[in-house]
Amino acid sequence: MRAKLLRWYGREKRNFPWRGETDPYRIWVSEVMLQQTQAAAVVDRYPRFLERFPTAASLADAPLEAVLSEWQGMGYYTRARNLHRAARIVAGLPGSKLPRGREALIQLPGFGPYMAGAVSSIAFGERAAAVDGNAVRVLSRLLNLGSPVGASPGKETLEKEAEALVPPSRPGDFNQAVMDLGAGVCLPRHPRCQACPLARDCAALAAGTAPLLPVKTKKKPPKKVTLFQLWAERRGAILMVRREDEGLFGGMWELPGLMIDGRPEGPDRRALGGAIRKLLGPGWRAGAKIARITRTLTHRKILFIVLRAEKSGGKIPQRLPEGTLWANENDLAALPVSAAQRAAIVAAREALSDRQGNLFA
Ligand code: ADE
Repeated sequence: MRAKLLRWYGREKRNFPWRGETDPYRIWVSEVMLQQTQAAAVVDRYPRFLERFPTAASLADAPLEAVLSEWQGMGYYTRARNLHRAARIVAGLPGSKLPRGREALIQLPGFGPYMAGAVSSIAFGERAAAVDGNAVRVLSRLLNLGSPVGASPGKETLEKEAEALVPPSRPGDFNQAVMDLGAGVCLPRHPRCQACPLARDCAALAAGTAPLLPVKTKKKPPKKVTLFQLWAERRGAILMVRREDEGLFGGMWELPGLMIDGRPEGPDRRALGGAIRKLLGPGWRAGAKIARITRTLTHRKILFIVLRAEKSGGKIPQRLPEGTLWANENDLAALPVSAAQRAAIVAAREALSDRQGNLFA
């Protein structure tokens, strides 16, 4: 079975820029990007990232903000923060090189069982399984696994079987062959079993259950949060603040405001006014609503409500607190800002320009 799959991989493997890489750092970066971003999107971003950060040491030397900026549009920024933290650890190791072996790798930020298995098998030729979403589907079908794969005992069965299947030679190719099979042949709803090199080995195909597998546990719905934000403007620039390094969108820039669990009846204008006065001094208050959009991430459904920050008299201070900026168009393009926040900014700007002509013209 392994030989059939590896022969198929030799003929059919997808031609990606990270295929054929031997530098563990470059393989690591590819796996971090591929963890939650479609391979087709990674193809464009991967060379750019490596040009900017060609080694673990260069990544470690860069400020987090530069790494987050380069990551923009790929989402799941925790990956970029962990990559950066791990690079700083790796930069302190002999030769600034990733440690060999799954046990050492799994100690690093961002390395779970998948990442440690993928990097150790692909970069170091270690016999280790790397079970991503595609591999879960392929393996649960090969085994005709009827229990849910997200929890015990299904999860353990899958892990044990995956470990046993990985061959001692070419483990990295084997793992990637399973992933490619899942991406192109062993498809979720309409598996192309006629094109599958493992059709004769597949217990689910024999039982007629392939399209039904893997069995999944019901996902929790995303948590609802409301982000009330303020649009303060000065000479065509808008006020942006940097979030704390930890937590949701850590280290990213956004409009100032307050995040509240759930869906409150309306904005707490007193609290919002207090927040803006802390940044810009007296005289500011939270005014009319200008935009409202929702964006759903994996674990959160965010409602953005943007209100105008209004100023009655007085001066705008010259100095701003740390992590606060009057951002013009160029700043906005360069700062790390999530796609969701960019959409809210665009919505607010469009609403305002409908009312009063283009702000930035
Ligand atoms: N998904 C994650 N890593 C991958 C790899 N190396 N090849 C194909 N798909 C992947």
